[in-house]
Amino acid sequence: MATLQSDNPQLLQRLQQEVHVWLASPEDVSDADKLQEYQSLLSADERQRYRRFHFDRDRHHYLVAHALLRRALSAYVDVAPSNWQFSGNRHGRPEISAPDIVPPLRFNLTHTNGLVACVVNLELDCGIDVERLSIRGNLTGIAEKMFAVNEQQDLKALDGQAFAERFFCYWTLREAYCKALGVGIAHSEKDYCFVEAAAGQWAISFDSQSNDDARHWQLALLKPTTEHVLALAIRTEDTPGKAIIHEFVVP
Ligand SMILES: CC(C)(COP(=O)(O)OP(=O)(O)OC[C@H]1O[C@@H](n2cnc3c(N)ncnc32)[C@H](O)[C@@H]1OP(=O)(O)O)[C@@H](O)C(=O)NCCC(=O)NCCS
Repeated sequence: MATLQSDNPQLLQRLQQEVHVWLASPEDVSDADKLQEYQSLLSADERQRYRRFHFDRDRHHYLVAHALLRRALSAYVDVAPSNWQFSGNRHGRPEISAPDIVPPLRFNLTHTNGLVACVVNLELDCGIDVERLSIRGNLTGIAEKMFAVNEQQDLKALDGQAFAERFFCYWTLREAYCKALGVGIAHSEKDYCFVEAAAGQWAISFDSQSNDDARHWQLALLKPTTEHVLALAIRTEDTPGKAIIHEFVVP
C-alpha cells in the first residue's frame, strides 16, 4: 500500500492523482519534550489560542492537530514546519498564505475526541470532518433542524447503533461539504442531500434550484477507528476522481 512516508518531491508528485489524509491519535502523544517541540512550531497567534483553551484535553488536541498539519505540509516541499503561515477567509477557513507554493497546496483540518485529521491536496477545494460515534444527545432534534427530508426519512427507519452510525455519516458528509465551500456548518442548507449510491459509495444530490453540480464533487466516508467516522468532500470539478490515501502518524 502506498505510504505517506516518502521523499517530498515524490509525495508532491503523487498529489496529481491522490488526496492524502493524515491522521493522529492525540492520546498517543504525552512525552513532555515532544509537546514542547510541538509548541515551538506554532505561530504567535496559534500559541495564544493554544493557551486560551479552558480544558486541557481541548488544548492538547489543538496542539497535536496543528503540529500534524505543519508536519504534513512539510512532507511535500522543503519548508520547515514552523515556517508555514496561514490566513482565514471571512468564515475562518484557513489557507496557506506563505510561502507561495505553485500549484498551491490546499488543506483542511478537523479534530474530535480521540482523533485529529488533516487532508492535503493540490489546488482543489476540500473539506474534512471527523466525529466520534455517540448515541447521546438529541440526535433526532439535530437531524430535524439540519438534515434534508430524504435523510430524515432514512433515519426514521433506524434505531440504536444503526441510527447513530447513519446520523454521523450524514453529519460528517454535510460538514465536510460545508468546510470545502469554506463556509462551515452554520451555513448548511437543506437543498441538497447525501445518497449512498452503492455500499460505501456516497454522492451528493442537489435540488433543481441549486447552483451546484453533483458531478463536481467526490465524497468519501472512512472509518479510521471503530469509534470514529471521517468524511471528505473534494471539488474535483471536471477532473477524474482522486485515490484517497490515509495513514496514522505521530507528528
Ligand atoms: C468551522 C466549523 C466548520 C468547525 O467545525 P467543528 O466541527 O467545530 O471543527 P472541526 O474540528 O471539524 O474543524 C475545525 C477546523 O476547521 C478549519 N476551519 C475553520 N473555519 C472553517 C471554515 N469556515 N471552513 C472550513 N474549515 C474551517 C480550521 O482549521 C479549524 O481548526 P482550528 O480551529 O484548530 O484552526 C464550524 O465551527 C462552523 O460552521 N463555523 C462557521 C464559522 C462562521 O461562519 N463564522 C462566522 C464568523 S463568527
